[in-house]
Amino acid sequence: MKALEIKGLRKTFRSNFMLKKYRVLKGIDLEVERGEIYGFLGPNGAGKTTTIKCVLGLLNADGGEVLVEGRPVAAIDSRRCVGFLPENPYFYDYLTARELLTFAASLFDLPPPAVRERIGALLHRVGLSGREDLKLRKYSKGMIQRLGLAQALINDPDLLILDEPFSGLDPIGRKDMRALIFSLREAGKTVFFSSHILQDMEMMVDRVGIILDGVIRRQGKLSELIARSTQYYEVACTGIAEGRLAQIQSNYAVRDGHYVLTLASDADVNLVVESIIHNDGRIIAVTPVKMTLEDIFFSEMRNGQ
Ligand SMILES: Nc1ncnc2c1ncn2[C@@H]1O[C@H](COP(=O)(O)OP(=O)(O)OP(=O)(O)O)[C@@H](O)[C@H]1O
Ligand SMILES: [Mg+2]
Repeated sequence: MKALEIKGLRKTFRSNFMLKKYRVLKGIDLEVERGEIYGFLGPNGAGKTTTIKCVLGLLNADGGEVLVEGRPVAAIDSRRCVGFLPENPYFYDYLTARELLTFAASLFDLPPPAVRERIGALLHRVGLSGREDLKLRKYSKGMIQRLGLAQALINDPDLLILDEPFSGLDPIGRKDMRALIFSLREAGKTVFFSSHILQDMEMMVDRVGIILDGVIRRQGKLSELIARSTQYYEVACTGIAEGRLAQIQSNYAVRDGHYVLTLASDADVNLVVESIIHNDGRIIAVTPVKMTLEDIFFSEMRNGQ
């Protein structure tokens, strides 16, 4: 069973007294495996938050199906195993972290001693021990974000849905958030997080889904998406007369005293390497140059235009 399955999800917003329609989700299909970190990547306005709201039952979709741990989202029961960190969480300024978490826990059926214990453990886990009785207006953005995560974890959910968890965090805050997300996976949780920041995804997700303009354009294991996406090969060589090299392959540069040739396919690599050796040259390296997630993302964006 998948942790989350979305099939053909559609959502249209209407405005101007229903005259104008905005088709925001145009048939989203994605699957999140249990125990993985899934990156939901897309530019501003692509439909990430709208998708998440449909998954949480905060918005009613126009069509399609959402299954959380195999159960349709329409069943309130399906949300018992879900924790949610909203985009830019805002909490009442005059509460303390302990009060906020006590309130969050009260929504679930937990005995008071268990609540106290869990709140202490969660505050420790997100690095807010010692700050639990400070009013939230004195919290920094990073502390609010970490408290939001503690709040999302209060019911010990199996699936965590985090909408832009890195937004507004400085490098240290991002590093902490990354470590927290990794620790959730280690604890066997499934983490689904949205972002438009490619670098964060590249460093941490098992699989990624790229959403553009309300459609999932690519989905897969990050390693496979990137492995399948070798852009070109570089062959570094030396010892061959430049005139001979130019006859073999005109597309070359001189780098660090070597010739570096750029080739499109592995078949070309084989032919060129043979010719270089045949002409008394020496091969120093053959390097496949892979696309980064950023290259994949931008090539999808270009294709969509
Ligand atoms: N309630 C609404 N009524 C009308 N349009 C809406 C509503 N909510 C969202 N939209 C529109 O839907 C589109 C997708 O918005 P959404 O918030 O899902 O994007 P996003 O991918 O989360 O973007 P961001 O990275 O900026 O958070 C946007 O064009 C937005 O203006
Ligand atoms: Mg959003």
